[in-house]
Amino acid sequence: MTKTTGTPPAVSFTRAVKTYGAVRALDGIDLEIEPGETVALLGRNGAGKSTTIALLLGLAEPDEGTVELFGVPPERAVRAGRVGAMLQEARAVPRVTVRELVSFVAGRYPEPMPIAQALRLAGITELAGRRVDRLSGGQTQRVRFAVALAGNPSLLVLDEPTAALDVEARHGFWKEMRAYARHGHTVLFSTHYLEEADAYADRILVIDHGRIVANGTGEELRRSAGGNLVSIDLAGRDTEGLRLLPGVRSVEVRGHRALLRTQDSDATVMALARLGAIRGLEVAQASLDDAFLALTAREWETV
Ligand SMILES: Nc1ncnc2c1ncn2[C@@H]1O[C@H](COP(=O)(O)OP(=O)(O)O)[C@@H](O)[C@H]1O
Ligand SMILES: [Mg+2]
Repeated sequence: MTKTTGTPPAVSFTRAVKTYGAVRALDGIDLEIEPGETVALLGRNGAGKSTTIALLLGLAEPDEGTVELFGVPPERAVRAGRVGAMLQEARAVPRVTVRELVSFVAGRYPEPMPIAQALRLAGITELAGRRVDRLSGGQTQRVRFAVALAGNPSLLVLDEPTAALDVEARHGFWKEMRAYARHGHTVLFSTHYLEEADAYADRILVIDHGRIVANGTGEELRRSAGGNLVSIDLAGRDTEGLRLLPGVRSVEVRGHRALLRTQDSDATVMALARLGAIRGLEVAQASLDDAFLALTAREWETV
């Protein structure tokens, strides 16, 4: 990540803590997002994604630590019209049409985008005259995307934006989100889908039990946490000693093959060669799923 001197980060959390009674929803979050970045906040249900977003939007105050947007308190940035958000929780929707709702929101921002453009980007032009309380879950979600875009905000915050969307709507959604980001806007979206984080974000922050446990591109996370998978045909040998080979972190037997998870596949393969044990060799990169499981497993063990 490059840091431009003089320009405050779009988002900055310093040791932010948020508790709900006995639940430590955020347990000391440090994060920075530079203007123009698209960042995914990736985590399981209950990891702390929505709480992070609530603090970020000034909807909740941290118990400890600080949160700033563009170098000022969130409330100020929100009031100045620099932030657009699509929240997860369902709120009571007023008896107005889609166009009226989007126009109302746009009118509260200093430099909104044209209503027709917001409707088009969210793929709801044909729903403009419909009442917002008479829409399907997926349609409602797209209306909320239009609402988030309406003010043409520098920072767009989306909490699990694709949860109720079908495949086609998802595709359209990500296409427009990327286009918006390409115009120099900053985007933070949360998801529990690894593929979405990997495909649509410049950088992934993995959150688990209220802590950021990893920060990097999908590629970097795969490399640092997942490593590689080396598999060989055991050809009647036993697996004794394989666990001790350089780089190897675990050994699993599947049928007549051994699957070695390794941090250093070159060293592992050379050691296997010295043992004369490389029949049917296959080397594969661990998936982002493997990396995610490895990153969050440590925390689970302490629960
Ligand atoms: N208003 C609340 N009252 C009590 N506990 C809450 C509240 N909001 C969130 N939590 C708890 O805080 C933790 C993080 O929740 P949340 O941020 O909603 O996770 P995520 O969005 O990643 O699914 C969970 O254990 C959740 O049960
Ligand atoms: Mg949530």
